Amino acid sequence: LEKLPHVYTDVIVIGAGIAGLFTALKASEKHKVLMVTKKSLLDSNTRYAQGGIAAVISDEDSPAYHRQDTLIAGAGLCSSAAVDVLVHEGPAGVTDLIRMGTEFDMEDGRFALTKEGAHSQRRILHAQGDATGAEIVRALSEKTKQEKNIEIWDDHFVIDLITDEGTCYGALVQRPDGQKVFVGANATILCTGGAGQLFRYTTNPEIATGDGIAIAYRAGADIRDVEFIQFHPTALCYPGAPRFLISEAVRGEGAVLRNIKGERFMERYHPQLELAPRDIVARAIVSEMEETKSTFVYIDFTHESHETVKNRFPTIYDFCLNYGLDLSSDWIPVAPAAHYMMGGVATDLYGETTVKRLFACGEVSSTGVHGGNRLASNSLSEAIVFGRRIVERIDQLSPLETVPPVREQRPLKDNAIQPVVEKKLKLQKLMLRYAGLKRHAKGLAKGYEELRRHLSFLDSCLSKREEYEFANLLICGLLTTQAALIREESRGGHYREDFPERDDLVWRKHTVFNRVNGIK
Ligand code: SIN
Repeated sequence: LEKLPHVYTDVIVIGAGIAGLFTALKASEKHKVLMVTKKSLLDSNTRYAQGGIAAVISDEDSPAYHRQDTLIAGAGLCSSAAVDVLVHEGPAGVTDLIRMGTEFDMEDGRFALTKEGAHSQRRILHAQGDATGAEIVRALSEKTKQEKNIEIWDDHFVIDLITDEGTCYGALVQRPDGQKVFVGANATILCTGGAGQLFRYTTNPEIATGDGIAIAYRAGADIRDVEFIQFHPTALCYPGAPRFLISEAVRGEGAVLRNIKGERFMERYHPQLELAPRDIVARAIVSEMEETKSTFVYIDFTHESHETVKNRFPTIYDFCLNYGLDLSSDWIPVAPAAHYMMGGVATDLYGETTVKRLFACGEVSSTGVHGGNRLASNSLSEAIVFGRRIVERIDQLSPLETVPPVREQRPLKDNAIQPVVEKKLKLQKLMLRYAGLKRHAKGLAKGYEELRRHLSFLDSCLSKREEYEFANLLICGLLTTQAALIREESRGGHYREDFPERDDLVWRKHTVFNRVNGIK
């Protein structure tokens, strides 16, 4: 094998959402950082975040309330230590974001705070009404580009992590021209987001292909709780339109859900009505859709004035209007769509994975904060809180002295690769059908077996980015279906029709996969 070109840096950050940008900026205070992103600094799930970022800011709120709400939503599977970190360190992270240039909405000289499902208090900061993620990305990407300690590699794809004896030495990166290069680093931080593209309908952009989970799995890191998938209850469901998010903050400001007969139905499902935890609202919507033989329900925000609706939710208002729907006067057709993966690469309280010098931050990680179901707007907070901690840990790392011999790790079997577009669509349909909001053993086993038929793909000589992405999705799909099959109970974002009850006696534990040691 030809030796690959080598490049060295202190810290490699993979991914450019809030986790990547924030962590890169923090790390750049003391280290040389290389940011590798498969598209650009402006493309990430963060950019689409609407509702906002949850933190204890108001005098009426307290870390104890935030803790309680997070634990209840997490359905008995949160790590209380991780939740403590989140609720106590969230405000400091928000202060950092503001120092980095983020401008949150203000009202009478204070932060304007909104509410979302399962929050007992108004604690969600937002920006430009419903464009919180876009504002954070604007501010942080501008600062990142100016920072001389950060080098940015746009349009570069990380094929694999380079590990030896349980330590990560960096990553194998494919340049836009297809050439490969080894980037050696003292610390490697995965900030690659989630795997929404596993499902036919998702609020996530095309790039959310579970790359970080797959490469960490291949590198021997523990992968935890990937059966817990959060479906956002209200994504736009309209012919020709993408599954655009209709923020939970719209319900937080009083919008109600109606089935196609016009009946408000949430009182039949939960005392918190439209603001019940997301998994409950999403399944209630699916039940109503099944009952009324419809592919959608409506969200009704017509009680507010046109001006209020347009000013508070300008992004959603404009998006719907492009399709001839007026959020202030029309009921908007919505349906659940895959939104967030609660599990991911297992980390400790400083974001370090079970592979030394490999860290995970944001949706790709499983810090223990979200348990079985993430509380709305806790994800942006998690990224900044644990991003700060990762950098604290990295500051203490001694430099790596040697690097193992680096080779392309993938097999070089010259199998003919078929186009992956069709395979990907099949996988997405299969995942929605068998591993979506309602699951059962028979369907999951069928889905798992169908995915396994593609296993030889993983041994092929891959070269194009979409091939690597499909391989990554396949690994995530196999792990998710397998974990969902094993967990014979229902909680949070995992619902088994054949085991509809939560079973704390047997199942109050995590599902952990490790390629080297097998399932733990
Ligand atoms: C929303 O605005 O509803 C999304 C917020 C989140 O997923 O945390």
